[in-house]
Amino acid sequence: MRKPVIAGNWKLYKTKEEALALIAELAPLVAGVSGVEIVVAPVFTVLPTLPAALSGTGIALAGQDVFWEEEGAFTGEVSPRMLLDAGASHVIIGHSERREYFGETDATVNQKIKAALLGALVPIFCIGETLAAREAGETFSVLERQLTMGLAGIDAAQLAPVIVAYEPVWAIGTGKTASDQQAQEAHAFIRGVVAKLYEQAVADKVRVLYGGSVKPENVKGLMSCPDIDGALVGGASLKGASFAAIVRFQE
Ligand code: 13P
Repeated sequence: MRKPVIAGNWKLYKTKEEALALIAELAPLVAGVSGVEIVVAPVFTVLPTLPAALSGTGIALAGQDVFWEEEGAFTGEVSPRMLLDAGASHVIIGHSERREYFGETDATVNQKIKAALLGALVPIFCIGETLAAREAGETFSVLERQLTMGLAGIDAAQLAPVIVAYEPVWAIGTGKTASDQQAQEAHAFIRGVVAKLYEQAVADKVRVLYGGSVKPENVKGLMSCPDIDGALVGGASLKGASFAAIVRFQE
């Protein structure tokens, strides 16, 4: 009942030309796949180049970040309306790299999720513990704090489109995937927190993606876990063949 989502976060990779080449490779490989939502998130400058190439492929576009004001004197920022204008329907918010390198906090993540929802964008809301937090036994308290603060002031009706992405920081770009059991345990916990913040029916509907070294070789095991509803893929989304193999995890 929760439609799987496979999203590719291209991070700081791919010029316009490279992005078009990747889509040209990817699109035929995922043609005919049904029952999976496919999303790609290029850098801002590439967004407006892709809608024409994606037309008819069923692949949706996401920004990698967004600011909460619609317009104004905010040098360097991009608003929800501008993302929509560039062809995006989704936006990644609160990625751990933004939290670590660019001063993103639970409070700014909350403002961005609210602005994205107001602007009719689907937020892909990232949470996840660092290695230090996991080793200190703080995984669940970190996840609960990130969820509670990130979703503050958002009611059940507003929450409906929100996609949560659980990305343990120690598994990102390291080749160390969480085991199926570790991932499932965190996802079940996340769904439990959503049930506590809202109600069980809301938690049953929210999609929770796993991210962190997802590859064609491990996607099947992860996707067989009852509370894992998709993947947020970094490195393996940069090649058509590996991303398509992840999209086709059901085969
Ligand atoms: P990797 O798949 O490269 O580990 O990156 C995961 C990620 O950060 C996706 O947002």
